[in-house]
Amino acid sequence: YEIYLNGMTGAVPRLPTDLTRLEELTEQRLGPGPVGYVAGSAGDGSTARANRDALRRRRIVPRILREVHERDLSVEVLGRALPAPLALAPVGVLSIVHPDAECAAARAAAAQGVPYILSSASSTPMEQVAEAMGDAERWFQLYWPKDPEVARSFLNRAKAAGFSALVVTLDTPMLGWRPRDLDRAYLPFLHGVGTANYFSDPAFRAGLAKPVQEDPNAAVMHFVGMFADPAKTWPDLAFLREHWDGPIVLKGILHPDDARAAADAGMDGVVVSNHGGRQVAGAIGAADALPRVVEAVGDRLTVLFDSGIRTGDDIFKALALGAQAVLVGRPYAYGLGLDGQAGVEHVIRCLLAEFDLTLALSGHATPATIGPADLIEESA
Ligand code: FNR
Repeated sequence: YEIYLNGMTGAVPRLPTDLTRLEELTEQRLGPGPVGYVAGSAGDGSTARANRDALRRRRIVPRILREVHERDLSVEVLGRALPAPLALAPVGVLSIVHPDAECAAARAAAAQGVPYILSSASSTPMEQVAEAMGDAERWFQLYWPKDPEVARSFLNRAKAAGFSALVVTLDTPMLGWRPRDLDRAYLPFLHGVGTANYFSDPAFRAGLAKPVQEDPNAAVMHFVGMFADPAKTWPDLAFLREHWDGPIVLKGILHPDDARAAADAGMDGVVVSNHGGRQVAGAIGAADALPRVVEAVGDRLTVLFDSGIRTGDDIFKALALGAQAVLVGRPYAYGLGLDGQAGVEHVIRCLLAEFDLTLALSGHATPATIGPADLIEESA
C-alpha cells in the first residue's frame, strides 16, 4: 500500500522489489570484486543453483475462502517472540560492500524487529555492533577459534554485549573452493579483513609476539591459523555448553544423523544450510535436506533454514517443509551495498510484505497453520 500511495505522487521504490535483480544491479554499481565475494559459491556454482532449484521445484497449493483478513506473522523461536519467521544470516566482512558494514545491517534489522546474527568474521568489533542495536534481538555466530582461550573470550564478550543465542557454524572448518575469490587472490579481503573481533580480543592479542600495529602480517597469519579448527568433533561441543548458558544452534546441518547427534549433544537447534552453496560443490540443495532433518529431530530441536531464500514464497515453502524460521544472506548484503541501512531495510520489508501476501493468498492467517499439505513437489 505504501508503494502504491507513494506512486500516486510519482515516487517509485529506489531499489527493485524483485530481490533476484539486486545481484546484477550491485555488480553494475560496485563492480565485480565486491559482488564476486558475495555471489561467489563453491566450484561451478552447482550447489547454489541446487538451492534455488530445490525451492522452485516445490509449488504452493493455495486454499480459498478462509479467514485471512487479519494476519499475524509472529512466531516463537528459541523461546523468543519474533515478529516474523525471518532473521539476517551471519555474513562476514561487510565492509567489502559498504563502509557502514555490520552496524548498518544491524540497525536495519533492529528497525524492522528481526534478529541480527553477527558473524565472528565481521569487520566491526561485536561491542560496537551491539551498541548500534540498543536492546534489539541479536545472536552471535561463532567460527570456533582453535585456541580455547580465544573461544572462551569470544563467548564472554558476546554474552556481555547482549547477544542472546549462539549460532555455531560447523560447515566451514576451512573455506570452500570459490573460484571468484581464488581468481582475484582474495583481493577484496584486503579492503576489509574480518579480523575486528580477533584483533580487539585480549586473549587473541596475548598470543601475538608483537602488537598488531608493529607486525600486522604476523597478526593476520595468527588469525588465519586461529579462524577455524578442522580437528573438532562432536565431543568438543561440551566445551560450548559449559561456557555458554543461552541457546546454542548448530549451523550447516544437512544430514539427519548429524541433526540427531546435535540433539543428543544437548543443543537447542540447528540451521539446515549449505552456507549458500559456498562450501561443498555438488552438495544437496538445502531445501531437499530440510524435510529429512525435520523428520529426524523436529520434535526435539528448533529447526531453522537458510540457503537460497529470495522471495516471500520461498519463506512460505521453507515453513511448509518444517522450518520454524529462515535466515537470508546475499539479498541483504546486496541491499547494504546499494543503499546502506535503507537498502537492508528495503530487503527485509520486501521479503516480509511478500511473505504476508503469499500467506494470505494461500489461505493462511498465521505461519502456524502452514504444513506439508500446502506444497507439492514437481519431479526434478
Ligand atoms: C556467508 N555466510 C556466513 N556464514 C557464517 O556462519 N559466518 C560467516 O561469516 C558467513 N559469511 C558469509 C559471507 C557471504 C558473503 C555470504 C554470501 C554468506 C553464510 C550465510 O550465513 C548463509 O548461510 C547464506 O548466505 C545463506 O544463503 P543465501 O541466503 O545467501 O542464499
